[in-house]
Amino acid sequence: MKTVELSAEYRQYIEQYLKKWFCQFGNEPQKSLYEAMAYSLLAGGKRLRPILVFEFARLCGKDWQKATPFAAAVEMVHTYSLIHDDLPAMDNDDYRRGRLTNHKVYGEAMAILAGDALLSDAFGCIASADLPASDVAKAVGVFAKDIGSLGMVGGQVLDISSEERQLSQQEVLDIQSRKTGALIHTACCLGVIAGGGDDRQLQAAGEFAAHLGLAFQIRDDMLDVIGTKEEMGKGVGTDGGKNTFVRLYGLEKCEELVQEYTHKAIDALDVFDDAAYLSALANELTQRKV
Ligand code: IPE
Ligand code: IPE
Ligand code: MG
Ligand code: MG
Ligand code: MG
Repeated sequence: MKTVELSAEYRQYIEQYLKKWFCQFGNEPQKSLYEAMAYSLLAGGKRLRPILVFEFARLCGKDWQKATPFAAAVEMVHTYSLIHDDLPAMDNDDYRRGRLTNHKVYGEAMAILAGDALLSDAFGCIASADLPASDVAKAVGVFAKDIGSLGMVGGQVLDISSEERQLSQQEVLDIQSRKTGALIHTACCLGVIAGGGDDRQLQAAGEFAAHLGLAFQIRDDMLDVIGTKEEMGKGVGTDGGKNTFVRLYGLEKCEELVQEYTHKAIDALDVFDDAAYLSALANELTQRKV
């Protein structure tokens, strides 16, 4: 199957699952909460993280559809992180995924709570997977570590607390690895776990994710400078005093680094029999405009 076709199939599958997921709450009185959650979760987005979950599950030889609750959980946490990232107390952004940010529509209190609910319900989603209990427990461990104080949230804290202060190259790499790389790490590893992969494959998925995460965030920082609001669906030129890769290296060097980390990511895929799709995906992401 061609790259575009497989991406489209994965995307369609996760969209349907997430849409259906909300149906179970139809009779709950806290309708405004579900409206705010759905506003951001069903607003599109590239769905890169679910795609990574599905593809690693497929590469490990299992029915990739079984990984869907894991894929949904990762996308829920990603969406919560974006809702909170956009809040006035954090990046203070007005646009996300082609629409007004969550707090602009529902107010700050509801945006915070919608994020809280997406985070909490993500664990319920993982627990609902039709997979061996030991695999589910293993997934929860990886997930919690990657998204919590040591991972994504830790990275966000370092990111906002280092504004207006010039950081070293190593410090920037550490922050970006946590704030963006950790969630990509969880996506790849949960895919391997759902697919019944072995430790070697888990290790390789982690290495792939570490490099892809850096390439992805460097490109994100570049797009804040060279992207357009229309294509990105979010504000550009908003990184201001942030310690972005562009501020540290300049655009030209960033372009080289995106290529370098992408090559390293692809090299890590040697242990898998059929890495053509992931290699093509990683290469496509180096040129992304969204
Ligand atoms: C944006 O992530 C935030 C970063 C980690 C850079 P994406 O670029 O994957 O956002 P969506 O999901 O497509 O909206
Ligand atoms: C966001 O990084 C990372 C997380 C939400 C964890 P950015 O702040 O660079 O993402 P954008 O540019 O707002 O999408
Ligand atoms: Mg941010
Ligand atoms: Mg932001
Ligand atoms: Mg950004």
